[in-house]
Amino acid sequence: MSKNYTLEAEKDSDAEEVIALLNLLGGETDYMPFGKDGYNMTAEEHIGLMKSRITVVAKSKADGKIVAHGFVMAYPWHRCHVFYFGVGVLKEHWRQGIGSAILEYSCTKAMDAGAEKMTLDVNPENKGALKCYENYGFEVEGHLKKEFKTANGKYHDALIMSKWLDK
Ligand SMILES: CC(C)(COP(=O)(O)OP(=O)(O)OC[C@H]1O[C@@H](n2cnc3c(N)ncnc32)[C@H](O)[C@@H]1OP(=O)(O)O)[C@@H](O)C(=O)NCCC(=O)NCCS
Repeated sequence: MSKNYTLEAEKDSDAEEVIALLNLLGGETDYMPFGKDGYNMTAEEHIGLMKSRITVVAKSKADGKIVAHGFVMAYPWHRCHVFYFGVGVLKEHWRQGIGSAILEYSCTKAMDAGAEKMTLDVNPENKGALKCYENYGFEVEGHLKKEFKTANGKYHDALIMSKWLDK
């Protein structure tokens, strides 16, 4: 990652800024799970949700602002060895290694928490994300049709990508 950013575990005091970031990210592409202003959470609800996840923020060294957010969460029961990953980087900060750094950080933290396999789903049109995941050794394991529906009612397929964390 470029030296212009730092990665930190998300703190409760980051909640308002992270909510604003996610609402902004939702409007920048069709690739987040919600559209612009679609992350309808209070700070309290967000903090509660993040307690069950391993979360990370990237901060710009120039002004201390949060420019990206990533999380991993464990599946329950017979999928407890599998953790799910999600990430979003503000468009003006793309292609500076932030997404890759968050992915690496999250895989390491997930392994520490007992994960054996990391999984995620991605729109096949999302070339940046595909490159980021392939670079890190993720492989396509499945293809779901019309799995995502955007705020404007458009359907997109989803590729399921995974990586065994000991590899
Ligand atoms: C996908 C995303 C997280 C990538 O973050 P990023 O910080 O730009 O990624 P990196 O800088 O670490 O780049 C990783 C690789 O992808 C490539 N890449 C990144 N964006 C790209 C794009 N738009 N087109 C083609 N390649 C791209 C980079 O060149 C790099 O490959 P290289 O090292 O071989 O050159 C970011 O684009 C994003 O947040 N997009 C919107 C939300 C989203 O798609 N989230 C993921 C949903 S599955």
